Amino acid sequence: MIRLEQPKDYREVENLTREAFWNVYRPGCTEHYVLHLFRTNPDFIPELDLVMEEDDKIIGHVMFSKAEIILDDSSHFPSWTFGPISIHPAYKRKGYGLKMLQYALEKAKEMGIGLLQMEGNIEFYKHAGFDLASKMKIHYHAEPRESEVPYFLAQELIPGYWGDREGTYAPPKGYFVAEEHPEAFEAYEASFPKKEKLRLPGQLGYEE
Ligand SMILES: CC(C)(COP(=O)(O)OP(=O)(O)OC[C@H]1O[C@@H](n2cnc3c(N)ncnc32)[C@H](O)[C@@H]1OP(=O)(O)O)[C@@H](O)C(=O)NCCC(=O)NCCS
Repeated sequence: MIRLEQPKDYREVENLTREAFWNVYRPGCTEHYVLHLFRTNPDFIPELDLVMEEDDKIIGHVMFSKAEIILDDSSHFPSWTFGPISIHPAYKRKGYGLKMLQYALEKAKEMGIGLLQMEGNIEFYKHAGFDLASKMKIHYHAEPRESEVPYFLAQELIPGYWGDREGTYAPPKGYFVAEEHPEAFEAYEASFPKKEKLRLPGQLGYEE
């Protein structure tokens, strides 16, 4: 079952996010803190703050945010992004993540969300209709404009919404709260049960 997140779920969902992201992209993770603060961010979209339940337990969550693309003529083009998206480690690779995402994309489309872009693994997101954003001439703020960024993905939910525009995307500021406020993040992190941070192959910037 997929339903809207309720305030009573907040701590459980933040813990789920922490479990899902822990040591995946870096030693430890910060995504649960992003979620913790984002619910009061004006860019947050409460209608797309969704949890997935199985056996009366929350096993999945996804949230969406307003975003924008700076077009080549310097104007701001309304767009959207999503994440963190989490499936509890015990339920990974059983089709739940794709099911939850497809449900959320359908809702997003019904709400008039025309375009999504985000950073992620194309091997998962291609199943939900995403492709490299560079193919749509959407560039990533932190990479050379000409490069085909393998982890930067996009999808037009409403055909023709983006058209043949060209522009550059930077994630919403709310995604960088842990880097901007490391002490506040550490205090928040300390409120969870201790977990070991590990440097593992496959993480961003991992070198043998
Ligand atoms: C990413 C995540 C949401 C995917 O959910 P999931 O339920 O595990 O994925 P699904 O079972 O629905 O995957 C569907 C298909 O996508 C592909 N896929 C999913 N995860 C993948 C991965 N890590 N690497 C490569 N392909 C992947 C596979 O083709 C999979 O089908 P298969 O298992 O039959 O091969 C979940 O694994 C998760 O929470 N991961 C940790 C947090 C995270 O990385 N979030 C996304 C940040 S961008």
